[in-house]
Amino acid sequence: MRIDIITCLPRLLESPFSDSILNRAQQKGLVAVAIHDLREYTTNKHRTTDDYAFGGGAGMVMMIEPIDNCITKLKSERPYDDIIYMSPDGELLTQPLANELSLKKNLILLCGHYKGVDERVREHLITREISIGNYVLSGGELAAAVVADSVIRLLPGVLNDETSALSDSFQDGLVAPPVYTRPAEYKGWKVPDVLLSGHEAKISQWKYEKSLERTKARRPGLLDGN
Ligand code: ADE
Repeated sequence: MRIDIITCLPRLLESPFSDSILNRAQQKGLVAVAIHDLREYTTNKHRTTDDYAFGGGAGMVMMIEPIDNCITKLKSERPYDDIIYMSPDGELLTQPLANELSLKKNLILLCGHYKGVDERVREHLITREISIGNYVLSGGELAAAVVADSVIRLLPGVLNDETSALSDSFQDGLVAPPVYTRPAEYKGWKVPDVLLSGHEAKISQWKYEKSLERTKARRPGLLDGN
């Protein structure tokens, strides 16, 4: 899989991809992540990527030309399954959406800033819009990193234990059960006996019951498919 991220603040995206699981996934060749600085695609003297809004109003608007130049160049190099604009009014990121995106081959994530992008970008260049939640961030970079992380960890071979992404919260419509590690007793606080019993079937049953209990208590909407 390949993910191209277009941004006017490339430094914001350096650290999420240079550590831990996301870095290892790239080192292993399971995913390629390329960050593109929009300023490299400007044609004006000051290399600006934004301008005042027609009709007035507070806030700058990202210009279509550098975005079009960058997307056109990328599309000339390979076909893309989706060109995604990160936007608070997009489709909400959920586990099923991350699962769906993890099956794609090439994705572009476009990060917005200021008051957003010229509407013609959304009308003519973008195939999909994604929001990571009902709140507004200063820009789409952190949102793009969240989308990329949720997708990359699902790619085969990225997580050491192949089954661990399948047992994540939300994968079966339930939140994950509690987990414990050594010591089995700390300050008198004990790990549930069943987890120390070695009885596989009883442990599975306990995990399922805890997941269900937690989902009912914390995220009841998940049980109705929300
Ligand atoms: N850009 C600003 N806020 C955002 C959000 N909540 N999701 C995606 N992109 C954004």
